[in-house]
Amino acid sequence: MKYALLSDVHANLPALRAVRANIEYRQDLDGVYHLGDLVGYAPWPNEVVEELAAWGITGVSGNYDSTVAKDYKHCGCRYEDERQEQLSHESYAWTLKHTIPKTQAFLGALPFRLDLRPLGGHASGPRVVLVHGTPTLNTVYWTEDRPDDFCLKMAQLAGMKAGDVIAFGHTHLPWHRPVSGIHFVNTGSVGRPKDGDWRAGYVVLEVSERHVGIEFLRVEYDVEEAMRAIRESELPEDFAEYLRRGGPPAPA
Ligand SMILES: [Fe+2]
Repeated sequence: MKYALLSDVHANLPALRAVRANIEYRQDLDGVYHLGDLVGYAPWPNEVVEELAAWGITGVSGNYDSTVAKDYKHCGCRYEDERQEQLSHESYAWTLKHTIPKTQAFLGALPFRLDLRPLGGHASGPRVVLVHGTPTLNTVYWTEDRPDDFCLKMAQLAGMKAGDVIAFGHTHLPWHRPVSGIHFVNTGSVGRPKDGDWRAGYVVLEVSERHVGIEFLRVEYDVEEAMRAIRESELPEDFAEYLRRGGPPAPA
């Protein structure tokens, strides 16, 4: 079975549409799932949710989704510095104000976690677990420098064994590492990458009885359109440059 996994769209409609076109062109995939954080930072929260609903894509709830759905006091995000923190509060306030009740209901109904069984639920073969952050909370950042012990603890909490795959997003930095035969995959970000590459990122995961294949893909999209729309909205201007740079500015 071959799946496309896309995370952290963050209200970036042109990026999502480009990834959708890329995925539909391939015609070799058995399923497509998102890993949450559909809204925040860009001006198309309702349109992104509509696009995913029309496409028929299901997925899990990111911290931005669950906090917007619950009118929580902040988005549960971590920031690179004080400036980014302040901008993040502005983004969250803007998103809460512009998210229509239908979108909020959609976000609130997303499950915390999805389990896939590529060989079928009647077989004990490999499983694929999808979460936004970790199996415990969608706000915890599972970065590449987390020690093997952390990964194995999370895998144990999720009830995983060798040959299984757990995929997550949240950090906007793609990586993959096998530990004790379990595959840990961060799928990066469609709409707000932080690895210095502005292109929309997603992952194609192939799972069979004895094989796990992971392919990281990047798709060009009309980043100028996204930048223009951010500038024309009341979102912080900095978010436009963030998209072009593929991450935060270098520390002063
Ligand atoms: Fe995110």
